This record gives sequence, C-alpha cells and structure tokens, in this order.
Amino acid sequence: MTEFSSMGLPKHILTRLANMGLKDPTPIQARAIPHALNGEDVLGLAQTGTGKTAAFGVPLISRMLDYGRKPAGKTVRGLVLAPTRELANQIAETLKALTEGTPMKVGLVVGGVSINPQISRIARGTDILVATPGRLLDILDRDALDLGSCDFLVLDEADQMLDLGFIHALRKISALLPEERQTMLFSATMPKQMNEIANSYLKRPVRIEVTPPGKPAAKVTQSVHFIAKAEKLSLLKELLANHKDERTLVFGRTKYGMEKLMRVLEKAGFAAAAIHGNKSQGQRERALAAFKSGEIKVLVATDVAARGLDIPDVKFVYNYELPNVPDAYVHRIGRTARAGKDGEAVAFCAPDEMEELKAIQKVMKITIPTASGRPWEAMPDPAAPRGGRPGGHGGNGAGKPGGKPGGQRRRRGGKGRGKPQGAATPNPGRSSSKPAGAKRQAR
Ligand SMILES: Nc1ncnc2c1ncn2[C@@H]1O[C@H](COP(=O)(O)OP(=O)(O)OP(=O)(O)O)[C@@H](O)[C@H]1O
Ligand SMILES: [Mg+2]
Repeated sequence: MTEFSSMGLPKHILTRLANMGLKDPTPIQARAIPHALNGEDVLGLAQTGTGKTAAFGVPLISRMLDYGRKPAGKTVRGLVLAPTRELANQIAETLKALTEGTPMKVGLVVGGVSINPQISRIARGTDILVATPGRLLDILDRDALDLGSCDFLVLDEADQMLDLGFIHALRKISALLPEERQTMLFSATMPKQMNEIANSYLKRPVRIEVTPPGKPAAKVTQSVHFIAKAEKLSLLKELLANHKDERTLVFGRTKYGMEKLMRVLEKAGFAAAAIHGNKSQGQRERALAAFKSGEIKVLVATDVAARGLDIPDVKFVYNYELPNVPDAYVHRIGRTARAGKDGEAVAFCAPDEMEELKAIQKVMKITIPTASGRPWEAMPDPAAPRGGRPGGHGGNGAGKPGGKPGGQRRRRGGKGRGKPQGAATPNPGRSSSKPAGAKRQAR
C-alpha cells in the first residue's frame, strides 16, 4: 500500500497531513499525487468524499514549496477554480491548513461579498488563489490581477466548470494564463460528451479513474419512494421526525420552492435553514455554519449545495425533488457517506419525475431499490386520465385505481414509461438522458 511518506513529499507537508489526521492516502491521492508531483496534467475522477481536494492540493503546494519563489504584487502562482462560493471557501480552508507554518499565502476571491478588500489583498501577491469564475472575471476586468505568471490551474468539479454556465468565463480566464502551465481537473462525474472539452484544457494528460465516473460513494444506501407530489411533504416530515437528531440535507429544484419548504418545516417545529441563490451571502454562510455546528439539523438546499461541500456527519440526503441533470443526483447524495462513513440517500419520485429517475439510474448503471417501511398507497398510473386535486397527481387515497393490495408503493409499468422499480434491470431502458446543460434551472 502506498503511504504519504513514500511519495517524495516535502517534510512539511507530511507533518501537516499527520496533524490533519490524514494517515494513508486514499486511492485517488495515491494515484494522482505522483503524476501531479511530476508536473504532468491530470484528469482525476473518483467518487464523492474520497479526498480529491488533497489529491490536487498536496502536489500543488509541494511543487510550489519546491520552487520557493514569492509572488510579485497583483500576481498569483496557482489558481484553483470552483463553481460555488462555499466550495471555494472550503478549498481555501483546506489549502490554508496544508500550508500552515509556511510563508505561502492562500487567497479567496468569490462573489456576494465586497470586492475592494479582495483587490487590496491580491495586490500584495498570492501564492494560491481560490476563486469562483464570475468574481475572478470582475477582478481581471479591473486590471487588479495579472495571470501571466500563474503556473498551475486546477478546476475542481471540472465537468461543471466546463459546462454551459461557466464555459465562457473559463475560456476568457484560460486565455490569460500562460500556455506552459500544469492543469489538473477533478470531479466525481464526467459525462462522455465532456471529454473532448476537458482534454482541450489539458496537455498529454494522465487520466485517473479510480472508479467509473458517476459511481456513488461506497457506503451510501439508496432508496426511492414512489409517491404523489401531494404526499411528499407528509412523508418528509415523517422521515425527519424519525431521525430528529441526525444531520439531514433536503434537496429540491427551485430557490422559491426550497425557501417555502424550509418555512413549512420550521413551522412544523424542525430546526431548519435554507441555502440557495436567492439568499444573501451572509445568510448562506450562516445557514451552513449553523448546520455544521449542529444548531440546525435540517438544511434545505438547491443544487448550489450539491457539489463538493464536506460537511461532517450528514446522515441523510433527501431528494425531495429529483434533479433534471442526472449527475447532480450523484453529487447531491455525495454529501453523505464521506471519508469511509455511511449514510442514506432517499429519493422522492412523483409520477412526473419518472424520466428523471430513469436518466439517473442510467447514468449510475443501477436500479435504486424501492423504499419500504411505511404502508403507502400505490401510485396511480400517470398515463391514465387525471382526476382529483388540481396540480396533484392523485395518489391521495387508499384504494385508488392502480393501488396494489398490501400497500406496495410500486408504480405500475404503464405504456413503457418505466419498469417497476426494484426489478433486476441494471440499465433501465433507453431513457432520455438529457444533454449536459439542458433544461437547467436557476439555483
Ligand atoms: N487520506 C485521507 N484519509 C482520511 N480522510 C481523508 C483523506 N483525504 C481526505 N480525507 C477527508 O475526506 C473528506 C472528503 O474529502 P474531499 O472533500 O476532498 O472529497 P472529494 O473527493 O473532493 O468529494 P466531492 O466529490 O464531494 O467533492 C474530508 O473530510 C477530508 O478531510
Ligand atoms: Mg471535492
């Protein structure tokens, strides 16, 4: 087995890793660090929660320590880009912990907070700058930063960074970086159609796939409730009440919807907060801090919290609404079962979400087992003419057409729109896996 001590890392880094409680390298670290130390470009793909941050952070800092030079004013030596402010902040904190006791300076440039203090800090020169692309562009537009001597570029959550939402910013930023640089791309997912664009940012890269991209964390237990939309809230409350002391993340699609859900849960007596793009940065940070400290047990979120966040001991992830980009599911459930711990991911699938579920199962090459444990009425066939409450999907009473005796919550496979879940089909049909970037919603 590879050990950190046999990798040729600077002594300082070995001490820091030991102090941070990181004893042996994880597989992605064991495989990526030697190549990265060698100066090679790396595309690193490994499951959520398996230490990708240190897989790029350790070699990045080690190489910079080797160089030993100081950054001039308004310059950076290494740039790490991440899709959200919270993730950028978390990466910066990890890099600060790894550089503690060295003269290296780690900077942070993210939106939602005032820009002037960031400009003053980077004016003094930064070794490693962690940034979200939007704010970085702002700073570049103001000529407050020169990327011409930046020798290292890291894209964390690379597939998202190279996707529609960020690619224009990325192109502009990379045009300002030296051609001769080391680039590292990391993620738990990499849709096939993104390989080409990923490679265009890399030179003779080493591709390291610890597991096939999209594979969920090893110790996450997944299940799905087939449920009418109108019944989701009462199921959620019931599940939350059953595990009141456990840290739980609830994901949904829209900012408005998740804000509303958080308020309903609060009224029902749950200690909850919400994190989404309509919150101020202060509110986002407070919500995350309260969740980390245990002050609140339930964090209701949009996909702004789906990627990268390393919150200790999240026990449950509820997909209250399924994401319409399948890879987002992998990242959402990756907020639990991190660093060898276990966790549960429970999906709530309404009849009109069957296509999303099929796409998710196709990407993950699994059939998510049907949840059990509560006598829940069977779903009516969504293909059947709708009656009942407006906007709902039926399923609001026992003995509905399509109901199965015994309370099996399994949807009948009607009109080829999905097989009964739990069937041993590893790859459920020719489903409509949507192209990356399609049908996105604001977070
Ligand atoms: N070698 C190690 N031994 C034990 N724990 C580790 C090791 N490396 C990292 N960790 C811990 O594992 C957790 C997850 O690490 P990290 O956030 O880097 O995962 P990731 O692979 O980037 O996940 P994601 O895909 O969700 O971004 C962190 O708490 C980190 O401290
Ligand atoms: Mg990560």
